[in-house]
Amino acid sequence: SAMALFLHFGFFLLLSFDIAGPARRDVLELADADFDYLATEHETMLVKFYAPWCGHCKKLAPDFEKAATKLKGTVQLAKVDCTANSELCARFGVTGYPSLKIFRSGRDAGPYDGPRSAEGIVQVMKKQSGPDSVLLRSNSDLEQFVNHYEASIVGLFSPDSSRLSEFLKAASLLREQFRFAHSSNLSLGQEYNATGECVLLFRPPRLSNKFEESVVVFSDYLTITSLRRFIRDNIFGLVPHLTVENMERLRVKDLLTVYYDLDYVHNVRGSNYWRNRVMLVASKFRGRGLSFSVANRKDFEAEIQEEFGLGPDPGLPVATIRTRLGLKYTMREEFTRDGRSLERFLEDYFSGRLKRFIKSEPVPEKNPGPVKVVVAESFAEIVDDPNKDALILFYSPLCQHCKKLEPVYAQLASELSSDPDVVVAKMNAADNDVPLGYDVQGSLSRDSQTSLTPDTSSSSSGGTPRCFQASRET
Ligand SMILES: *[C@@H]1O[C@H](CO)[C@@H](O)[C@H](O)[C@H]1NC(C)=O
Ligand SMILES: *[C@@H]1O[C@H](CO)[C@@H](O)[C@H](O)[C@H]1NC(C)=O
Repeated sequence: SAMALFLHFGFFLLLSFDIAGPARRDVLELADADFDYLATEHETMLVKFYAPWCGHCKKLAPDFEKAATKLKGTVQLAKVDCTANSELCARFGVTGYPSLKIFRSGRDAGPYDGPRSAEGIVQVMKKQSGPDSVLLRSNSDLEQFVNHYEASIVGLFSPDSSRLSEFLKAASLLREQFRFAHSSNLSLGQEYNATGECVLLFRPPRLSNKFEESVVVFSDYLTITSLRRFIRDNIFGLVPHLTVENMERLRVKDLLTVYYDLDYVHNVRGSNYWRNRVMLVASKFRGRGLSFSVANRKDFEAEIQEEFGLGPDPGLPVATIRTRLGLKYTMREEFTRDGRSLERFLEDYFSGRLKRFIKSEPVPEKNPGPVKVVVAESFAEIVDDPNKDALILFYSPLCQHCKKLEPVYAQLASELSSDPDVVVAKMNAADNDVPLGYDVQGSLSRDSQTSLTPDTSSSSSGGTPRCFQASRET
């Protein structure tokens, strides 16, 4: 009958999914019973300890799967469901979900601190596979090693050198961030005018340019600290490629970034076309305390629009500056091919002529409640009033703790409303830039699932703001 046929067809479909499903999965599932047996088979393995109900775990899952597929054959990715395998999760001290740990031949080799995007996991874990430092014998070994998407650090030491062991120690500490190799063939340095023992830093070939050397030689006294400093000071060069993975390291400085359709995988030449224009300008402003970078606009689209208030992609590069302290500037003029407009932007920046960009909701027309609504643009007027003490609550509209505090805060405000010298206020810190000096912690992004602990800073008249951290009762 038609019914029977239908059921049959349904069963067939289910069956074929069942067969295709596990075959596509590249993440190994481990349990209390088989972890020790299976884990020792893998030289390097990244294990995700998770709980099925956890939101961050669900968010990570597709990236983790994607990374597993890309890393297949190099590094094994695995997962442990802690709700079903409590013994394992207790043994490895898992206290939050998801927890990521690196294992070497079944042994816990420490937490994974890298980025959680598919690409980030791939990059970090690739560096985790194989030896800390690759042994090179000849010039062709060297050429092959340094011809890579990323920078390379190569140590040249005589076979029994004491510096070699220091270099290898540094490599084991820093391998997650950089690629290391070494050789006892000192003649490999000749091409770079390096005689004797030294460390060579090769910037990625895709970023080679006529404004700076592609290879930097380090021949000072080698310690882990001195090597780390040398790498930090030289690895990025004049105009590095800013990515989601390296942005934290680059943003410790005042940083100008030029965003465009940069793509060093498919279009090296086009990517360097604009970068070379930035380099030309950057080389004129060297040594003035501002660092430079270029980035793929797509990687930072949300940030460009939400934090810098720039419109949709105009099809030309756009430039922003973000200082260490969080001051933001955007280049308003169109980016010109001769770099002149960028140069004018920088001249204005250094002469203090630029107006800061401040993200703000519109100032409310009426503000009648006991809790005054403050936005970035009205902050100075309301909170910094020298004749009044102000208590301000920074909150995020999505934060549950904040919602709980709301009635308590409103009650406090109405009790204090008879005092003309006191202002009780609140500011949505997700949609308004918090002024400098107010150390608001917590994740404020709109799509973040973590909730923000309300930060209540009290700003007394004329004084510096202090954070209110006592109990949250009236
Ligand atoms: C050192 O490298 C050079 C250049 O590749 C090569 O000609 C030479 O044979 C190497 N020496 C040794 C001992 O491997
Ligand atoms: C090596 O030194 C020579 C002579 O000083 C110089 O001409 C050459 O440009 C240098 N090469 C590199 C790669 O620095």
